[in-house]
Amino acid sequence: MSLNVTIVGTGYVGLTTGVSLAYLGHHVTCVDKNASIVERLQRGEPTIHEPGLAELLTASTLARYTTEIPELHGDGVVMIAVGTPSKSNGDADLQYVDAAARELADRIVDGARLVVVNKSTVPIGSARHVDGIIRRQLQSRGVDAEVHVASNPEFLAEGRAVHDTLYPDRVVIGAEEPFAVGMLRELYAPILEQVFEAPVGSPRPENLELPSLITTTPTSAELTKYAANAFLATKISFINEFAGLAERVGADITEVARAIGLDSRIGSKFLHAGIGWGGSCFGKDTRAILALAGNYDFPMSVVEAAVAVNRRQRQFVVEKLQRELKVLRGTTIGLLGLAFKGNTDDLRDSPALTLVSALSELGAVVRVHDPVAMPNARRLHPDMPVEYCDDEAGLAAGCDALVVVTDWPQYRHLDFAALRERMKGDVLLDARNLLTRSNVEAAGLRYMGIGR
Ligand SMILES: NC(=O)c1ccc[n+]([C@@H]2O[C@H](COP(=O)([O-])OP(=O)(O)OC[C@H]3O[C@@H](n4cnc5c(N)ncnc54)[C@H](O)[C@@H]3O)[C@@H](O)[C@H]2O)c1
Repeated sequence: MSLNVTIVGTGYVGLTTGVSLAYLGHHVTCVDKNASIVERLQRGEPTIHEPGLAELLTASTLARYTTEIPELHGDGVVMIAVGTPSKSNGDADLQYVDAAARELADRIVDGARLVVVNKSTVPIGSARHVDGIIRRQLQSRGVDAEVHVASNPEFLAEGRAVHDTLYPDRVVIGAEEPFAVGMLRELYAPILEQVFEAPVGSPRPENLELPSLITTTPTSAELTKYAANAFLATKISFINEFAGLAERVGADITEVARAIGLDSRIGSKFLHAGIGWGGSCFGKDTRAILALAGNYDFPMSVVEAAVAVNRRQRQFVVEKLQRELKVLRGTTIGLLGLAFKGNTDDLRDSPALTLVSALSELGAVVRVHDPVAMPNARRLHPDMPVEYCDDEAGLAAGCDALVVVTDWPQYRHLDFAALRERMKGDVLLDARNLLTRSNVEAAGLRYMGIGR
């Protein structure tokens, strides 16, 4: 059955969720207070880089885009998908969630029966918190409506957001009321039962198992999201810590990771040693969970260690360059990639930004290339001391060293001999363990990876 869905916040999560639900047949209104996002979407132009999103935007004719929350009447679902950045003490900043809750409550009319969903990653207790905001607002306006607040955390990964939305491993619904669970089950029915034609650009994986629906209390759902991100961050830091040891004992961490990853108790994903994690979620969510644990005077040493290892990992890359080039002042370093990972244009907490500032502080000239993230970098970091290069060959010109910072698939297939010819030096630091050593060395470059 087709439902009326309003999504407040049309960023990476809100947009992907909105167009996917519209593709599945729901009537979706995507709201964003940023007028330029809305204008671009109204023109059918994707506002973020995500594989399969442009095709889905074209196909999702039931989605509309606006800066104002429409009147909320009858039955429907309202999703809050605004940002929840870190406050200075590490806590999640709920100001955007609170504003969204007040604004949507202002648009509810008599007789509405709504499920309001916290899709943003929010601290424990946020379902009750949002419920309180809405209830007080309705009371002060004298509106008689039935509103249930549920937690429905999002697990999509950028770079595969459409795929993860249409073909998730599980859907988690944390709600107290059967009415809310029922409506959200209906919302996700096409995904849970996989009864839709796969859109162009996002084919259904072969042998896909039907996603599990997990219904929990709001508190368990809220904690699930933080536990998932803390676990994934820890898994990466774990392999990065072993990468450091592998370098010292003369092992190759990629061989070790493959060998342990084939153990089904361990699993091969997120065992890729490199420069460490970045992006908008792992950093802020590990900070938030540590802040929450602090409120209970409960030390979470594993998560703390994962954060510390990740911080150190970025520094290791600079130290490797120092070991090879000795003095960085006056050198030219070319960074392949700015985005925090491949297949996205997202620069939030990107290791590349840390490298740019560390290398320029040490006196190096930093040149950068990224297939899609350079416009965002110019817009969001206008003062970043870098030279932008339109292609990899241009980047290499006069460089003492090249560093693979982002795991863009296209960097695997570079013409390394042509790059070497244009470079001044011969160092290639593969900070993502993306490349095959023999290919790079055959081109006359000195290869350095992480933990190999
Ligand atoms: N990005 C991810 O990979 C990811 C994955 C899972 C969960 N999450 C969580 O989802 C939430 C959103 O993340 P994101 O990356 O999509 O953020 P984002 O910054 O890309 O998007 C948030 C959008 O909300 C808009 N907004 C803020 N307040 C608004 C309001 N009152 N009314 C209308 N629009 C408003 C902003 O203009 C912005 O476009 C966060 O809590 C995040 O932790 C993100």
